[in-house]
Amino acid sequence: MAQMTNPIPQLIIKADQVTGQVSPMLYGLMTEEINYAYEGGLYGELIRNRTFKANPHEAIFWSAVGGAVISIDTNQPLNTALNVSLKLDTSKASKTCPAGIVNGGYWGIPVRPNTTYHASFYAKAEDFKGPLTVSLASTNGKTVWAAATVPKVSGDWQKYEVTLKTGEVAPSKDNQLVIATTKPGTFFAHHGKIWFQQVSLFPPTYKNRVNGNRPDLSQLLDDAQPKFLRFPGGNYLEGDNLKEHFDWKKTIGPLEQRPGHRSPWGYWSTDGFGLPEFLGWCEDLHMEPVLAVFAGYTLNHNYVKPGPDLAPYVQDALDEIEYVTGETNTIWGARRVRDGHPAAFKLHYVEIGNEDWFDESGSYDGRFTQFYDAIKAKYPQIQCISTVGNEQSEKKRVHSRKPDVVDEHYYRSATDFEQEAPNRFDKYDRNDGKIFIGEWAAYEDIVPWNKKSEQLAPTPSFKAALGDAAWMTALERNSDLIVMQCYAPLLVNVNPRGRQWRPNLIGYDALNSYGSPSYYAQKMFSTQHGDQILATDSQNMPADPTPKLFFDATRDSQNGKIILKVVNSLGTTQPVKIQINGVAQIAATGKAVFLKADRPEDTNSILEPQKIVPVSETVNGLGTDFIRDFPAYSITVLELETK
Ligand code: AHR
Repeated sequence: MAQMTNPIPQLIIKADQVTGQVSPMLYGLMTEEINYAYEGGLYGELIRNRTFKANPHEAIFWSAVGGAVISIDTNQPLNTALNVSLKLDTSKASKTCPAGIVNGGYWGIPVRPNTTYHASFYAKAEDFKGPLTVSLASTNGKTVWAAATVPKVSGDWQKYEVTLKTGEVAPSKDNQLVIATTKPGTFFAHHGKIWFQQVSLFPPTYKNRVNGNRPDLSQLLDDAQPKFLRFPGGNYLEGDNLKEHFDWKKTIGPLEQRPGHRSPWGYWSTDGFGLPEFLGWCEDLHMEPVLAVFAGYTLNHNYVKPGPDLAPYVQDALDEIEYVTGETNTIWGARRVRDGHPAAFKLHYVEIGNEDWFDESGSYDGRFTQFYDAIKAKYPQIQCISTVGNEQSEKKRVHSRKPDVVDEHYYRSATDFEQEAPNRFDKYDRNDGKIFIGEWAAYEDIVPWNKKSEQLAPTPSFKAALGDAAWMTALERNSDLIVMQCYAPLLVNVNPRGRQWRPNLIGYDALNSYGSPSYYAQKMFSTQHGDQILATDSQNMPADPTPKLFFDATRDSQNGKIILKVVNSLGTTQPVKIQINGVAQIAATGKAVFLKADRPEDTNSILEPQKIVPVSETVNGLGTDFIRDFPAYSITVLELETK
C-alpha cells in the first residue's frame, strides 16, 4: 500500500499588497528595579548598600577587619536624605593588623586588568586624623589589586576620592573594597572613630558616562537597537504602598541628596539610578523614553481617590514631563539643566500607572481621566497610555476618555503563544485604539509566579525562545495596530537569591553576562525588518496539535528587500515552498540569519554564553518560487532582494 505523505507547507507572500506600516517604535525595552537589574546589574556602582540604609539596625553587606567594631549610627547623619552613617571604632588598629570596613559588592567585585576605578566616600572622624588606605583586594585578603591613600580625615563631613588602578591581572570577581587604617587614633587618644557615608566604587562605564552603566550589559542592549525604553516599571513604579512608590523628585540631583527607598521586589534602592539615569540610558542607546507616571495605585490595592486627593500626583506627573521635555526657562527644565542635561528629551508616550486592572475598586477611570485631562491640556501632542487593555473584562475597560494606546501584558507558555500567534491580533478591529504590549515573555511550562520556577535557570531555554519568536511574528504582522512591544523582565543577576522572577532576557554575575536565546530572537526581529507589512497566506501548515510553523513578511520600501521570518517549532527539518507574488524577480542569492538548537531545553548561561547565537549565511537558489528547508527548532530571517 502506498504511504500517505504530508503535503509540503506553502507560504505565499503577496508583495503587491501592503497591509500596513511597521511601527517605527515596535521594538523596545522594558525595565524596572527587579532581579538586581540596576543595583547589582546595569548601574555601574559596585558597592552594595553604599548608604547603609538597606537595614535600619544592621550594616548588612558590610563587615570589619582587624578586630574593628562597626555599627549603624543614627546620631551622625550626613544630611536629611542620608540620615544614618557607618561608625568604625579604630582603637584596635595596629601596623600588623589594620582596622577597617569591608564590602564584597553584589556577589563579588569585578577586577579587570589595567582598569581604573574611582572610589569615593564621605567621612568624618573623632580622635583620629588619618591616614586611611583604600584598597581593592581579593576576598581571601591575600592579594591587593590596587590601593590608594587618603592622608587626612577631617572632623567634619567631607568627601574623599581616590583612583585605584589595576595592573596586568587576570579578571576575577571574588574581591572586596577595604578602607582601613593602621592608627588606633590620635597620639593622645587611642580610641579613634570614623563615620562613613555613601561609599562608592565605580569602574569605567558605557560611553564614559559619569554615574553611568556597565559596558557589557549596555552593549548587549545596544546591539538589539531598541527604539524606546519603558520605565520605571512595572511594580517598581507602584511600590508596595504609597510611601514606597517611585517618587521621581527624590531620584534627581546630587547622589547624596537622594534618600533611596525600598523596592517592591524586596530590596533597598539607593536611587542612584534615578530619573536622570533612565534618561541618560535612553541617550546612550538612542532610545525614546516611554515614561510611566505614578497614578495613585499601589500593590497593596490602595488607591488615591480621584479629585483633590489625586491632584498632587497629577502635578508630579506634569512636573516630571516638564523635567524630561521642558525648555530651559521652565522650572523643571531648569532643574534638568542643573542636573547636567541642558537638552530636552523627545517624549511622545506617557503611561498612566501600571497594571491598573488589578484595581478592583473601579477608581482607574476617574484617575486616568484626571491625568489624561491635565496632560492633554498642557501637552496635547503626548499620547496617553491606559494600563487597562482590551484583554480585560468590559467592566474594567471603562474609559471616560479614549486612551490613545492601551498597554496589555502577556506572560504565557510557549505553547499558548504558538496557539495564538497565527491569528490573535489579525482579527482585532483597526478602529479601536492602538496597542502597546508593554510586558510579555514566553515561559516553558511553569508560570513566573509559581515557586517551582525558582528551580529553573534564571533565563529561558530555546523552547521559550521559539514561543517568543512565534509571538513576534504576530506582533510584527500586526504592527499597524501594535505600536510598541517589549519583553519583560529584561535583566537578572544569576546569583542565588539574585532574582524575583523568571524567565528574564539577559543574565549576569559581577564579571560576565550573556544573552538568552530569547534575547537573540529579539535582536534578530528588532534589527531585521522592513517598514511595510506584506499580506501573506499559507497552506498545509503543520499543527501538532498546536501550530508549529510561523511566519511574517515585511519589505524595506527604500531598497525593495523582502524580509521573511520563519519559525519552525518542530523537531524535524521542515521543507517549505515559498511563493512571492507581485514582484518581477527575486535575486537568486540572498542572506539568511538563523538561530537554532539541537534540543528545545538547550540554552545559554554564564558558563556557556554563546551556545545558541545567530548564524549568518549566504543562500542560493532563491526566486519567486522556491523550496527551502527550515531546520528543526529554528528561527530564520531570510532577506530576499527584489529586482
Ligand atoms: O515583569 C514583572 C512584573 O510583572 C511587573 O513588575 C509587573 O508589571 C507585572 O505584573
